[in-house]
Amino acid sequence: MSEIRRVGVLGCGLMGSGIAQAAATAGYDTLVRDVAPEIWTKARAGIEKSLAKLVEKQKVTGPDRDAALKRLAFTTTTADLKGCDIIVEAVTERLDVKNALWKELDGLCGPATIFASNTSSLTIAAMAAVTKRPDRFVGLHFFNPVPLMPLAEVVRTVTTSDATFDRAFAFARSLGKDPVAAKDTPGFIVNLLLVPYLLDAIRAVEHGVASVVDIDKAMQLGCAHPMGPLTLLDFVGLDTTASIAEIMFDEYRETRYAPPPLLRRMVLAGMTGRKSGHGFYDYSVDPPTPSNLGL
Ligand code: CAA
Ligand code: NAD
Repeated sequence: MSEIRRVGVLGCGLMGSGIAQAAATAGYDTLVRDVAPEIWTKARAGIEKSLAKLVEKQKVTGPDRDAALKRLAFTTTTADLKGCDIIVEAVTERLDVKNALWKELDGLCGPATIFASNTSSLTIAAMAAVTKRPDRFVGLHFFNPVPLMPLAEVVRTVTTSDATFDRAFAFARSLGKDPVAAKDTPGFIVNLLLVPYLLDAIRAVEHGVASVVDIDKAMQLGCAHPMGPLTLLDFVGLDTTASIAEIMFDEYRETRYAPPPLLRRMVLAGMTGRKSGHGFYDYSVDPPTPSNLGL
């Protein structure tokens, strides 16, 4: 079994940049593909900021930070990833976008390359099936923010070989994660439980149960959650959450997964959370203030 040396990352938004940071810090040559150089510039700045924090906290040494940044390269050309030993995909939560990339890379990569998707809710089998390597396809689901969250769900679909699963599990460990094994059911373990909770918090806002601030405060102080659900939704991204909810609702046909109308309207209005500077809270001011949601 060939060793993993070169890691490809598709997408350098919230998750791709965190995955790339983790891979480069773990000693892998890491090549990241996104659609435009402006996106890399933002991603690199975010990675530098995160590494600076980790150096300050003595979790990473200065020389290790410098070496990690040297191992990190960016491209807009998907074909540049053809020499990678594992490709971790973290692009927009849409099957058509992900599968177009997998189809292109399948014809370019060598037979030993593992394909791994960081999807939150899509079926791994639906991606594996468009390639000629369904046995070398796995889910590798990281958590936001990747540099701080210790979990990775390693997802085995019906076609994933034992060798691929074991390599992906070992790869997650090599990034400093403490992985768990999950089956290819929508939402895997964490999102199966987390997503209905987050959607219920939006429904609580819609029904006027309490203010956004008090719902967040209640879950932080009452349940010791590090963030309230509406702050967490802004952190994850409301566009990504809406896609996840649609995918999970489509699969399970249970109303608890259905995207609440307020979520859809906020996404239509460009209120995608921290990434756009505006969601349940307005991040253009410090500290952020609750948004006027017209309720
Ligand atoms: N890199 C390095 N350091 C970081 C960082 C990053 N990316 N993000 C935050 N930090 C640092 C902060 O700078 C801060 O440092 P100081 O203590 O020196 O100030 C420290 O971590 C703590 O951050 P904050 O004080 O800002 O806030 P916090 O104490 O609330 O911690 C948090 C931040 C770790 C994100 C914490 O709030 C938390 O765990 N939140 C919940 C996150 C969560 O639930 N993630 C899962 C989302 S669901 C998902 O990912 C799956 C999916 O498919 C949608
Ligand atoms: P994001 O919107 O922050 O980033 C997505 C990135 O994909 C963008 O930079 C976009 O330019 C890029 N992209 C789109 N099409 C592309 C293409 N054809 N080639 C290369 N790059 C392309 O989204 P995100 O939050 O990083 O989510 C990415 C994936 O990770 C999704 O599948 C999501 O479900 C999953 N995920 C998200 C979270 C979270 O908390 N946000 C947590 C775990 C998993």
